[in-house]
Amino acid sequence: MTTLQIHDKLFKPYISEEAIREKVVELAAALDHDYKDKNPIFIAILNGAFIFAADLFKSLTIDAEISFIKLASYKGMKSSGQVITAVGLDIEIFDRHVVILEDIVDTGKTLNEFLPQLRHQQPASLKIVALLHKPDATVYPLKVDYTGFEIPDKFVVGYGLDYNGRGRNTASIYQLFE
Ligand code: IMP
Repeated sequence: MTTLQIHDKLFKPYISEEAIREKVVELAAALDHDYKDKNPIFIAILNGAFIFAADLFKSLTIDAEISFIKLASYKGMKSSGQVITAVGLDIEIFDRHVVILEDIVDTGKTLNEFLPQLRHQQPASLKIVALLHKPDATVYPLKVDYTGFEIPDKFVVGYGLDYNGRGRNTASIYQLFE
């Protein structure tokens, strides 16, 4: 792995493809165990979570469903103001076990605004899986039930995560050079 230039920024290799694969398998095993016979519905948050969601979902062995929702995305390197639901949920989640799949929890704003909308529909349970979590960036406290990697408050790209739309198409994760 070498450095990556995206727009005006340089990024360095941070989490390898192998480390991600191992973590995804580990998360899938925990979910297989905890959701056996519960037929959970996974809700992946687009765009960032699309690669993580696909890899995690195909690592599961239990019966499960998946759906996708698109919320307003991150602009540049700071969380943008409004979080808007652009593509709604097309499934009934009343009395179902719901598992949110996020690429990264940063300030917690996105899920803080979205979760009440889901709770309103009275799922049997509602848990969060995030591949990456930046605990030091928390502004809106949020319980992340399954975390892949806790990382420092530094900007990362790759494996679905972007910097102004670019950089999603790498198998590993890169961190901004400082
Ligand atoms: P939050 O609402 O501040 O928790 O931000 C969550 C969303 O911001 C994620 O789903 C990402 O789309 C985006 N985001 C946060 N941190 C990063 C980062 O380091 N790189 C790329 N996107 C990020």
